[in-house]
Amino acid sequence: MAFKVPFVDPRAHYARLKAEIDQAIIGCLTNGDLINRHQLKDFERHLAHFVGVRYAVGVNSGYHALYFSLLAAGVGPGDEVITVAHTFVATVSAIIHCGAVPILIEVGEDYNMAVDRIEQAITHKTKALLPVHLNGRLCDMSILMEIAERHGLVVIEDAAQSLGATFDGRGAGSFGLTGCFSFYPFKVLGGFGDGGAITTNDERVARMATLLRYNGEDRETGEYHYHGQTALLDNVQAAVLDVKLSHLPEWLAHRRRIAQLYREGLAGVGDLQLPHYDESRRHDIYQNYVVRSARRDRLRTFLRDRGVETLVHWPKPMWEHQALGLGKPNLPWTERLCREVVSLPMSAETTTEQVSVTVACIREFFSVDR
Ligand SMILES: Cc1ncc(COP(=O)(O)O)c(C=O)c1O
Repeated sequence: MAFKVPFVDPRAHYARLKAEIDQAIIGCLTNGDLINRHQLKDFERHLAHFVGVRYAVGVNSGYHALYFSLLAAGVGPGDEVITVAHTFVATVSAIIHCGAVPILIEVGEDYNMAVDRIEQAITHKTKALLPVHLNGRLCDMSILMEIAERHGLVVIEDAAQSLGATFDGRGAGSFGLTGCFSFYPFKVLGGFGDGGAITTNDERVARMATLLRYNGEDRETGEYHYHGQTALLDNVQAAVLDVKLSHLPEWLAHRRRIAQLYREGLAGVGDLQLPHYDESRRHDIYQNYVVRSARRDRLRTFLRDRGVETLVHWPKPMWEHQALGLGKPNLPWTERLCREVVSLPMSAETTTEQVSVTVACIREFFSVDR
């Protein structure tokens, strides 16, 4: 179905950047710059600068950024890692693939790890905290880092959804041992396929990730240091991402304007809860504009019938996917979010007209008791 207001618009996005993107791709192909060339190194340097750290290491997905970060932190069998269930499954799968046990705790009103629940989840097996900066907004990193320090825990930030967001002026991915980013096409910095990166100030971690992504090989000496994986960020992808990174600040500003329009149009409408929290400390970049309503499913159908595309992240709690074998934690709030959240159209291409259409439809829905 062709939507009048699409959730995202990759064709419009490419059309806008066509000249620059084509030049970057053709440059790589013409020069044979396919694997680990200067385009990747340039992108890593620019990304590290943008995040505010010393190193960035490009990998082929956000999942691999998480997995390699956990390995570099020494997480392994017998360890516990505290994280949330209200996240993309990759966060938890990365912990499982290290042989460790994910301890799932509640999120707060803002969908991020409830920092007041962390300490009661810590045991003698806890090795790391893995907060997820969801929807473009950081977790309360001052409290979280203080708890981690007091208990001697490593912090790995899942910043897949928060490139460019800050807490107390510091960038997502610059607080913990590492920050883990995803360049899945519909992230704020999206490639034309999968991609990811680890950011860190730790030289050892940067080197380990650099080796792990290349089957453990040191490309200078040819020596293999680990049983690694084939997980390098493609050079062509890096060239595209480098072009897009230079535009990111203007796109993030655009997202914030769109969020503000939603806020003005939807404040006080029905039982809708809008995603605006503690803006004195947080700079949100609105990867997703997530609203909540007890009538979410009927609202979505109503919008779909009027040509407005929405998404739900995520419609059922992760532990209800039986094959994942996660057991059933007692997380009533997370369960409720699965019933109530809906993400409205939001991208660098979302127009003010599209917001007006979406807002008008939502107001119409709530104007009568459906
Ligand atoms: C919160 C979160 N963590 C991890 C990931 C994994 O990233 P990727 O899809 O690049 O492996 C994503 C991507 O969707 C995500 O949103």
